Formats: sequence, structure tokens, C-alpha cells
Amino acid sequence: MSENKRPDDMQRITTPELARAFIDEQVAAIKAQVGSKKVLLALSGGVDSSVTAALLIKAIGQELVCVHVNHGLLRKGEPEQVVSVFRDELGANLIYVDAVDRFLGKLEGVTDPETKRKIIGAEFIEVFAEEAAKLDGIAYLAQGTIYPDILESDAGTKAHHNVGGLPAKLGFELVEPLKFLFKDEVRVVGRELGLPSGMVDRQPFPGPGLGVRCPGAITRDRLEAVRESDAILREEFKAAGLEGKVWQYFTVVPDFRSTGLKDGKRAFEWLVIIRAVNTRDAMTATVEPLPYDLLAKITDRITSEVPGINRVLYDVTPKPTGTIEYE
Ligand code: XMP
Repeated sequence: MSENKRPDDMQRITTPELARAFIDEQVAAIKAQVGSKKVLLALSGGVDSSVTAALLIKAIGQELVCVHVNHGLLRKGEPEQVVSVFRDELGANLIYVDAVDRFLGKLEGVTDPETKRKIIGAEFIEVFAEEAAKLDGIAYLAQGTIYPDILESDAGTKAHHNVGGLPAKLGFELVEPLKFLFKDEVRVVGRELGLPSGMVDRQPFPGPGLGVRCPGAITRDRLEAVRESDAILREEFKAAGLEGKVWQYFTVVPDFRSTGLKDGKRAFEWLVIIRAVNTRDAMTATVEPLPYDLLAKITDRITSEVPGINRVLYDVTPKPTGTIEYE
């Protein structure tokens, strides 16, 4: 059997009991693999890295060193949540790196989507490697690889999707406790490990983060508008009972202004596009038919609460022809 093939007889983890058995088995396996050596983990706060961290904390406690890189492209409240859940609640050994200015500096004036992705990916590796070099005695690198990542990389697709995928050149042996799990199983395990539902049931979020929702060259004002409008959208979806029902929803602020009217004066400002889609595998997607009242309420809040925005549009394009993200 290949080291990267899920065993044929592996039971699907669908219940808390099965999750507990998986956790016990992995805790023992991690202890056997790493002994008393130190393990490093890039903790983005996404489902996979969070569940990997919680599992390793259970197995080796302070011997796990988590590094959270804030690249400035995370959603509102995310860096704070990583610190409060992992450092304050779980007592993790967590290094928080504020790399916002560094990333935004490198991205200044860059308009090509793939170049933006490459810069974000390369800079991430650079920052992480610098942090790793400051630490003594690290022998292993933990990664939140899950089974679809292995299947996709075997198929040669989506290589660019794994911004957090760290290269072999770092020279550490890997610890990948979730590598045979599908996403729904990771969520069951995360819940059993006591992670908050806001973390375990999160919608997918691209590695390059809000950077791909700020099409064209990223500017701080548009990035802030994406972050604030996304927070309003998420709040309103939650209030409307749509959280966890719609597969992915977010806002985009393109590099385009239109004339509007605010407080009786002409306002030449940015616009916000709302995207809300459902899909099984992200290869095709349909648009969620949002109620008009909800759209009107979100529009009212965004145009009154987010500086620099005078207009809101709803994108009703399925994939194909539109992709889910804008770049
Ligand atoms: P598209 O836009 O290709 O997106 O229809 C399909 C799914 O993939 C996510 N996505 C990314 N995820 N790095 C990621 O980790 C990326 O560069 C990236 N681009 C798109 C997207 O959010 C959607 O869930």
C-alpha cells in the first residue's frame, strides 16, 4: 500500500465516538513518531491547521511551536481569534508574527493575479523560514494536509492553491495526522477536540486570502473595504440563519469607482460585489438565490458603515462562466 493512500478499510469518521478513537490513535502515533523532540506548525486559523494544532497540543503540549503569520489579508477578527483560542484557551506555545506591512509592501502596484499569488506564497515561506531559523531544536514540521490535498496534487491540479504548503527545503520530517481525512471528518474531529464552531465550521477561505478579493493592485483602503464589508455580510448571513447553509460567501471590491450621492453631495467611490455560491466540489457552482430584503439590508449597512463605498452589486453568475473568486 502506498504511504499516501487512505487504507481501504478505514472507517469514515462521522460520530463523536469515532472521532475520539481517531484522536486516541493519532495522539499515540504522534508521541511515537516525535518522542520528546520539538514540532513546528504554520497555524493559519483555517480548519485543517487548527485541528492539526489541537491534536498536537493534546499529544505533546509545549513541544509544539505554532507560528501564526498575519499577512494582512485575513478576515476581520481572525488573527485575534487564533491568539485567543490557541494561546489563551489551549495554552499553546504560539508565536504571532505581524507581517502586514511586509506583505502589503511587496504587493504594492502588482496587478497580475498569478503574480500576486506567487508573491504571497513566496513571502509566506520566507517569513516562516525566518521564524524557524530563530528556534532551537525543531525536528519536525506538522502540516494540516488532508486527503483531497493528496488526491489533487497526485492529479496535478490546483498546485497554486496551497499557499501554506511549505517546501521540503526547510529540511524537517513531516507530521501529517489528518492526511487520510476528508473535510467533513476533520470537522467532526475538531469539534471533539473542543475547538469553537466558528473555527471548525468555517467556509473555505483561499490561501491568498482577501488579496484575491481586491482585484488589481491591492490598496489599503480597498482592502479595508473588503474586510469590513465581508464582516457585515457574515453578520447578516448569521442573523438570517444562512451560516453553514451557503457554501461560500464573501465580498469583492474591484479597482473601479462610480458616481454616487452621499449626504447630498456627489461621491465618486468604490463599489462592493457580493458573491454567495453553493457547490459540491468547487469545480462548478450555483448562485444562492438570496432574499431581496436581505440584499437590501446588507446594501444599506455596507453603504452607510463602510467608508468609501457608495454602491453594492449582487453577482448572479454561476461557475462556469464565472469562477468563484474574482482572480
Ligand atoms: P475558483 O475561484 O477557482 O475557486 O472557482 C474554487 C475554490 O478554491 C478557492 N481558491 C483558492 N484556495 N488558494 C486557495 O487555497 C487559492 O489561490 C485559491 N483560489 C481559489 C476558492 O475560494 C473556492 O473555494
